[in-house]
Amino acid sequence: MIKKVTVKTIQKYKDNNEKFSVLTAYDYSTAKYIDEAGIDIILIGDSLAMVALGYETTHSVGVEEMAIFTKAVAKGAQRAMVVTDMPFLSYHTDISSAVKNCGEMVKFGANGLKIEGYSDYIISVIKRLVESGIPVMGHLGFTPQFLNTLGGYRIQGKTQEAAEEILKQAKELEKAGVFSIVLEMVPQDSAKYITENLSVPTISCGAGKYCDAQVLVSDDVFGKFSEFKPKFARKYGDMKALIYSCAKQFNDDVKSGKFPSNEEIF
Ligand code: KIV
Repeated sequence: MIKKVTVKTIQKYKDNNEKFSVLTAYDYSTAKYIDEAGIDIILIGDSLAMVALGYETTHSVGVEEMAIFTKAVAKGAQRAMVVTDMPFLSYHTDISSAVKNCGEMVKFGANGLKIEGYSDYIISVIKRLVESGIPVMGHLGFTPQFLNTLGGYRIQGKTQEAAEEILKQAKELEKAGVFSIVLEMVPQDSAKYITENLSVPTISCGAGKYCDAQVLVSDDVFGKFSEFKPKFARKYGDMKALIYSCAKQFNDDVKSGKFPSNEEIF
């Protein structure tokens, strides 16, 4: 029987100084293949707003859309822990609607949720979710849902003082019960300092090699999304070219009468 990755597995990785991997997925078959490849956490990131739905920012995606993608990914993932990113304004208005929206994702198959940012209110949301039996992944540094108040895509935690501030926030998240924290677009040295001073694992999203884990958007890794490639992402394939080539050959074969062949008919 396949042993599912849980919050306990994730903490063990940190305690044993073992790295783990996090990759986004938005559909059943991708989740199935990356699960089989050994990815430890599959994140239904709100990055799907851009890469799967064609929106400009993550702000446009809602709870209903995240729920559909969560259902599909949860069906494909047997070993990996499935974590859903809670979308913009789905947990910000009041605690009871936050718990309701987050609880929906768990009903649809998520094993945990990701919540961006830090404030007294966010701490109280995290506490209530954890009390309700919902594992929470925090997200500090650059937090895309706060794009407008942060003034654009900016590196966070550049100075010692700024790194101390992120560490202070991370420690509060840790106290509230998060099982891991994404650090996005934080300089490597700052992320190292933060990681070394926390008990829960950190997950780097452009925060260098000293975090306990690494996360990337799968469309960047597969070379599928070509409109923008973050500096910290690594492209391992050229799915855009593959899709283009397969579609082009099919188009040519249909139009020249080469498809279907005698083996492809009843
Ligand atoms: O939305 C997303 O995909 C994310 C990760 C890249 C951390 O938040």
